[in-house]
Amino acid sequence: MKNTKYPYLDRPYPRVKLHPATIKHMKKGHPWVTKDTFTAEFPENRTFLVGVGNEKEFALLIQDPKHPHVKARLWSLIPPFVDGIKNFPKELYDRLEAAIRYRISHGIDKERENFYLVFGEGDRIPGLFIQKLGNKILIQHYADYWRKLGTLLNHTLAAILKDYFPDERFTAYVETRNSEMENTIRRITMPGVRNDTASPNEVEITEFGVKYKVRFDQNYDHGLYTDMSAIRKRMTKYMKGSVLNLFSYTGAYSLYAMKSGAESVVSVDLSPKYLSWLEENLDLNPELNRESHESLEMPVSVALSKLAAEKKQFNFIVCDPPTASSDGKKTTNALDNYEKMIPQMMKVLAHDGVMVVFQNTHKVTKKKFEDKISAIAKSKGLKVIENLKMAEDCKPLSQFPEGNYLNGLVLSRY
Ligand SMILES: C[S@@+](CC[C@H](N)C(=O)[O-])C[C@H]1O[C@@H](n2cnc3c(N)ncnc32)[C@H](O)[C@@H]1O
Repeated sequence: MKNTKYPYLDRPYPRVKLHPATIKHMKKGHPWVTKDTFTAEFPENRTFLVGVGNEKEFALLIQDPKHPHVKARLWSLIPPFVDGIKNFPKELYDRLEAAIRYRISHGIDKERENFYLVFGEGDRIPGLFIQKLGNKILIQHYADYWRKLGTLLNHTLAAILKDYFPDERFTAYVETRNSEMENTIRRITMPGVRNDTASPNEVEITEFGVKYKVRFDQNYDHGLYTDMSAIRKRMTKYMKGSVLNLFSYTGAYSLYAMKSGAESVVSVDLSPKYLSWLEENLDLNPELNRESHESLEMPVSVALSKLAAEKKQFNFIVCDPPTASSDGKKTTNALDNYEKMIPQMMKVLAHDGVMVVFQNTHKVTKKKFEDKISAIAKSKGLKVIENLKMAEDCKPLSQFPEGNYLNGLVLSRY
């Protein structure tokens, strides 16, 4: 029978040869086909491809020819693949439903209003990330084929949301990357659910009892990193005495530290925009003692020198730098920066204090990060006391280092 609704599911599917290394990695659980001489032969106008190795059909793939590096992503290793394509709508429903059920059955929605409903490859829905932020649904396409499959996705997701959250009115947004890899965001209407068309593009949400403002606007990041939430909770035990939050952004760590009993908190960020957003967040939480918080609008290196000169000491330091930072002339990556930053941080770390350093990129493996930080730590008389990794709603797939992009190490003196 012809599929008139989703015609691309019907067409005879092309078989494409895969590099032996791709097949080897896929067998171990890696879900990406990265650019090579074999992908150069893929017919660009097709969404579904069947990967072939040793003359045998091996994998059902979804193609993303526009992506500079990841040319296709794994959908299924289970033949027959012709059925895999025909059954794609049902399988998509099943995977989305399983992903959402997992979050709800683990009660993640009970302690925070921001969580991932779908975490891409970790939920076997490659290149698709969906966050629920209060009544806003943020659909993030990291692979362009989700734009092509958008109508199917939208209908499928709406049907599941209606079942799981029957009383909610939603506003949904789709965030995509253009060919320059810049983000664009647009509001969409979801079929069959109660769309909250009148609501503004911002919402107040509560994470572990603290309120934050989240915005959906071309000119802003959303204001809260939900992939950090599970890690934030794990760090509660360190949040006492005086706390220093480096690269504070809109203050999620600062406000959570205040809520968790820290006596004083200093936030450092060079962006006036994000520090005034932090003030807005403080306004939303009148029970927190504002007097105990101070913002420093300056580069972290300058703030650390200033605090050291003032002989300030902190019981807990959080350092979550951007992947790469630029001073206009030279771009330095976070990992190299730690060589300089850790000794600077030590000067303001109380004798029995603890610091946590993060690395946020899929370009440097967890192992490389841990080796480098451990080496710096050892040479400075620090030891690693805890590894922090993504968890709960953001569990990456094992055997897929690129998905494990956020790692932290907790350090203390020997
Ligand atoms: C990855 S975000 C931090 C996220 C934050 N830890 C959280 O969980 O919400 C990076 C922040 O670093 C700031 N930033 C970048 N370079 C900086 C520098 N050299 N000194 C101070 N802040 C900087 C940016 O303005 C941005 O707010």
